Amino acid sequence: MRSLRTGLSLAALLTGAAMFLTAPAAHAADTPLRDLAAAQGKVIGTAVTGSKLTGTYGSVTGTQFSSLTPGNAMKWGTVEPTQGSFDWSEADQIVAFAQAHHQQVRGHTLVWHNQNPGWLTNGSWTTAQLSTLLQNHISTEVGRYKGAITAWDVVNEAFNEDGTLRPTLWSNGLGSGYIAQALTWAHAADPDAKLYINDYNVEGVNAKSTALYNLVKSLKAQGVPIDGVGLQAHLVLGQVPSTLQQNIQRFADLGVDVAITELDVRMQLPATNASLAQQKADYKSVVAACAAVTRCVNVTVWGFTDSDSWVPSTFPGYGAATPYDENYAPKPAYYGIAEALGGTTTTPPPTNGACTATYSVSSQWNTGFTGQVTIACSGASLSSWKANWTYGAGQRITQAWNATCTQSGAAVSCANASYNGSVPDGGSVTFGFNGTWSGGNSVPTVTLG
Ligand code: XIL
Repeated sequence: MRSLRTGLSLAALLTGAAMFLTAPAAHAADTPLRDLAAAQGKVIGTAVTGSKLTGTYGSVTGTQFSSLTPGNAMKWGTVEPTQGSFDWSEADQIVAFAQAHHQQVRGHTLVWHNQNPGWLTNGSWTTAQLSTLLQNHISTEVGRYKGAITAWDVVNEAFNEDGTLRPTLWSNGLGSGYIAQALTWAHAADPDAKLYINDYNVEGVNAKSTALYNLVKSLKAQGVPIDGVGLQAHLVLGQVPSTLQQNIQRFADLGVDVAITELDVRMQLPATNASLAQQKADYKSVVAACAAVTRCVNVTVWGFTDSDSWVPSTFPGYGAATPYDENYAPKPAYYGIAEALGGTTTTPPPTNGACTATYSVSSQWNTGFTGQVTIACSGASLSSWKANWTYGAGQRITQAWNATCTQSGAAVSCANASYNGSVPDGGSVTFGFNGTWSGGNSVPTVTLG
C-alpha cells in the first residue's frame, strides 16, 4: 500500500479532489431518528431479522432506532417448532443487540392465528389442554425475557373487519375470554412489561377499531392488565386515514398507551419521484399524529430497508414500502419521519458562521483508497473536534494521520490529534487516511461533533 501511495501522481490527487461533499456542523438533518424521537419523548423502532444485524444493516439499526421488534423470531412457530423443544437463538440475538445499543424491545407476538407450529395447529386438543398449552407458552416465553421486554404484543389480530371476533384456534377453542386470560398470564410472568393488543386496519375510526376500543374499555373496567393498543399501520400509498390522530386520542383517553407497531407504506412498483414524495408525506403524517398525542409512545417501522420488507412477497406488484432503499440510502420517507420528529432537513444558510467538514477521495485503486477531511471555519472556531461519518458500502479505514480514527461497523469517528484541535476563524485543518473498499466507494456525509 505504501508503494502505491508514494507512486501517486499529482494529477491523480488533483482530479480525485473534485469528489467532495460539504456538511454543515451538527446539522439537524444528520441527527439520528432516535435522538429526534427522544427529544419529543418518543421511541422510534424497527422490526429486525436477527441474522442481518451486522455491517450496514446493524449500524443503521443501532444508530437510528431506539426500539427493536423481532419480525419473526418470537413467534410460536419459531420458538417451539417441535413441542417441548425450543429455539431461542434469534430472539436472544436480537435482545442482546438491543441491550448493547440501549434499545427497547417490543415482544411480538404471543397469541396469534398465524405462524404457529404445525404440532399445535394440527393437534386435536380439549379446551383444558389448549388452555394449558397457551398458558405454558406465555409463561415460558414472557418468563424467559422477564425484565428485557418493554412491551409485549400479547394478542395479535383478534378481530374481523366488521368488528366481530375472528374465529381462530383460540377463540374457537377457548371462547372470547382467551384475550383476558392471555393478558393475565403474561402479567403474572412479567409484571413490569407493558401488555398490548395489536391489530391492522384499526388506524382510523371504523367498525374494527371501534370493536377494539370497546374491548379495551371493558378489559380496563374488569381490571384485566392491559396497557396499550398497537396499530400496525401497514398502509397503502396516499391512504393514511384522516381520523388517525383522533383514533389514537380516543384510545389514549381510555387510559392506555398507543404504539404504531408495524408501519410501512406500500406502493405499486416501480417507484417514481412522485410516489416517493407521496410516501414521504404519508410517513410524516403518521409520525406527526403519534407525536401529537402524549400517550402515543412508539412508532415502529416494519423493516427499515426495502431489502428487508415483507411487502414484495406478500403483495405482488407492490414494494418500496420502507424508509431506506435496498442499498441503505435514506429515501424521502426517512426525511418525512425526521421532519415529523422536529428535525430540519434543509441545509440552513451559514448566517452566523460555521465550521464545515469536507470529505474527499484523493486517490483510489482496485482495493484501496486514500482520503482526507478538511475542517474549515468561517465566522466560528473550534478548540477540539471530532469528524463522524458512516460508510455506505463496507469501506474500512486501515490507517489515519493527523487524527485518531476508530471504526465500528460502518461508523467512523476521527478525533483531533494533540496538536491540531484548534481551528481558528478563517483557518482549516486537514487529516488523512487510507482505507479499503470493494463494490462502491461513495463519498459519505461528514458531521462535526
Ligand atoms: C410478517 C413478517 O414480516 C414476514 O417475514 C412473515 O413471513 C409473515 O409475517 N402482521 C404482523 C406481523 O403482526 O407479524 C407480520 O409479519 C406482518 C403482518
